[in-house]
Amino acid sequence: MNYERLKQPLVLAIFGITGDLAQRKLLPALYHLKKADELPEQLKIVGISRRDVTLEDVYKELPQFVHEPDYDPAIQQYLQEHTEMRQMDLVNRADYESLLVRLEEIERDFEAGGSRLYYLSIPSQAFTPIIRLLGETGHNAPLKDSSDAPRLLIEKPFGYDLASARELIGVLSEHFGEGQVYRIDHYVAKETVQNILTFRFKNPLFESIWNNRHIERISVTAHEQLDIEGRVAFYEQTGALRDLIQSHLLQLMAITTMARPAKLESEEIHAEKLKLLQAVKPIQPNEVNERTVRGQYEGYRQEVSNPDSNIETFARLELWIDNEQWTGVPVILETGKALNEKRTEITICFRQPEDAPDDQNTLTFRIQPSEGITLHLQTKRPGIKNITEGADMDLDYARAFTDRPAEAYERVIVDAIRGDQTLFASSTEVIRSWEIIENVLEQWSRTGESLVSYPKTSGGPI
Ligand code: BG6
Repeated sequence: MNYERLKQPLVLAIFGITGDLAQRKLLPALYHLKKADELPEQLKIVGISRRDVTLEDVYKELPQFVHEPDYDPAIQQYLQEHTEMRQMDLVNRADYESLLVRLEEIERDFEAGGSRLYYLSIPSQAFTPIIRLLGETGHNAPLKDSSDAPRLLIEKPFGYDLASARELIGVLSEHFGEGQVYRIDHYVAKETVQNILTFRFKNPLFESIWNNRHIERISVTAHEQLDIEGRVAFYEQTGALRDLIQSHLLQLMAITTMARPAKLESEEIHAEKLKLLQAVKPIQPNEVNERTVRGQYEGYRQEVSNPDSNIETFARLELWIDNEQWTGVPVILETGKALNEKRTEITICFRQPEDAPDDQNTLTFRIQPSEGITLHLQTKRPGIKNITEGADMDLDYARAFTDRPAEAYERVIVDAIRGDQTLFASSTEVIRSWEIIENVLEQWSRTGESLVSYPKTSGGPI
């Protein structure tokens, strides 16, 4: 792929630069990229915000969010010098017109052939008007002196349900080509998730057993210790199913179970992921009770000051894939907040012959923390007796490699600069993911009946 692009001039316009996500993830990622010398030499960051804020304000929390012992203030200084702030009324057309004039002015001072990225780090309700105004005022047109079209990076959640996702995709496609749109799913950009592709498709050893003859069940788990961290308005409109399952966990499931792509390249990988998602049977209304669990941690309703809140902070879904490779293998997706541990992992449980011990062979991709891969095997316990005992074969990333893993957001930025859409969700994948959970969302929104309460720092509802 095109690493040359990383050397070409770049204008990065960040909507919502003072927001939580930009502050916690995006600016620290830019810091690390600069430190690793991965940013273009000719760089201009244009920070867009509704309020009048200074550069010092924007960067003042950076040391805290980078949190590394040898924090380098010179890098912060560099980023600050390469940033200019712009106050904008986000629904005022004239502000978009003058923004474009300014971006083109910056680009005129650069050498030809650069890229322009717009990063929408804003609440999803604000997407539609901003996308419309960007399109209507010409921010979507190829750059002067270049055939390169500007790209748009969009944070999740992409829509609120199936209908709103379709609407948003409709608005986007009126103004931007699919090749210009980068829908971020930062889980897909995690180092350990990308390694699933390498593991599956570069180790022929596992390929012949990656099917329902050898695999009994698969679980994709994302447990968090954090609660909703004060994000009341966001969470009251979202819940665990929309927040993690519709996006991150369905993507992890697709990457783990899709068929081998003809090439390990963007188009081919997206085609296989979509085929897989299309083979997942959407949960039917009469199956919701049997195949789902939803929970809410104790104290949530007081925290959000809503004594009737019906929003789940824990969700478990049992899904089935209707294709030759996976028929009969349940896939359990589970996520929850305020639990007793932070643990994201995918576990493949292998079938046992009748006479084998109950302790199954399993293969676990440890996405985070303690990144690695574990194969659980049966072994003979050392000694004169023949005693079989389970033991783990472990690949621990931190011990096996000395290289610093790239943070997901670093990868997101670099790939968007390079124009590589492999790690971003396509519009068809997003729509299909909403279809899979639509009946569950609908039923859960109507009744609080099945909502189970669980104590904080527990393992979730029993
Ligand atoms: C985000 C969710 O997409 O992922 C958050 O909106 C969640 O609610 C976060 O906490 C978890 O990300 P990570 O990378 O810390 O596992």
